[in-house]
Amino acid sequence: MSDTPPPSVSAPNPRVYGPRGLMRYRRLIIGLSSRHAWKIDNDRLARMYASHVSANHLEVGPADGHFLSQAPDPVDASGGPVPAERRRIQLMDLNPGPLRMCEPKLAGRARVTSHVHDVLSAPWPVADASVDSVAMFHVLHCVPGNGIRAKATAFSEAARVLSPEQGVFFGATLPGAADGHTSNNWLARRLQHAYNQPERNIFHNRGDRVTDLRAVLEEHFTDVEVTVMGADALWVARGPRA
Ligand SMILES: C[S@@+](CC[C@H](N)C(=O)[O-])C[C@H]1O[C@@H](n2cnc3c(N)ncnc32)[C@H](O)[C@@H]1O
Repeated sequence: MSDTPPPSVSAPNPRVYGPRGLMRYRRLIIGLSSRHAWKIDNDRLARMYASHVSANHLEVGPADGHFLSQAPDPVDASGGPVPAERRRIQLMDLNPGPLRMCEPKLAGRARVTSHVHDVLSAPWPVADASVDSVAMFHVLHCVPGNGIRAKATAFSEAARVLSPEQGVFFGATLPGAADGHTSNNWLARRLQHAYNQPERNIFHNRGDRVTDLRAVLEEHFTDVEVTVMGADALWVARGPRA
């Protein structure tokens, strides 16, 4: 018998990810809670985007698209930016608000396609081995499931859609406050507790652990780096296993 728990069903959260919530997202989440509660160095996330976003990119759970829209354009063999007509960005989100907000921000720099889709629902509406980079930042802790293993579809689908040669899957998630590998200060513990109240449908990460994150990534990728920054766990994975 498999010890993998069944996947849970996500419910959209228009209060947090509707137009008004998204207008405040950069100031409140990226500017305040990321820095002061989760102890995230936003410059480090920006460097991950600068290093890994390809000309054929899938962004899962963009919210206001801050890091993707700030990232430099990928360069081609001549060293110049890939022209918009040869650059493709796909956006995927359970909530339509982020897609509506990000499309105009990115238009003109790439051909942009949006998918309203739950990250835990397979198959994603993206063909096998068809993208060169997938970013998934701070989505998994929002997704219901009793631990990272219950969220494994997110990893198997990322591996399926990535090109085997150059594909890179990069992202981050906040494990539960009880994880011994991350560090949650007083404010982080208060926020984790408040956001995990079921009726708020903001976080579902009590059972998420860095060790499970690494194990599930290694099941689906041959080359995996996981690092911890404050309350956050970051990864870069290559070599999708077919
Ligand atoms: C906390 S925001 C992260 C935004 C951005 N990636 C960042 O790191 O700043 C979570 C994002 O995931 C999306 N999301 C939440 N649950 C989802 C699900 N089940 N499937 C796909 N996207 C989801 C939200 O709509 C939102 O865009």
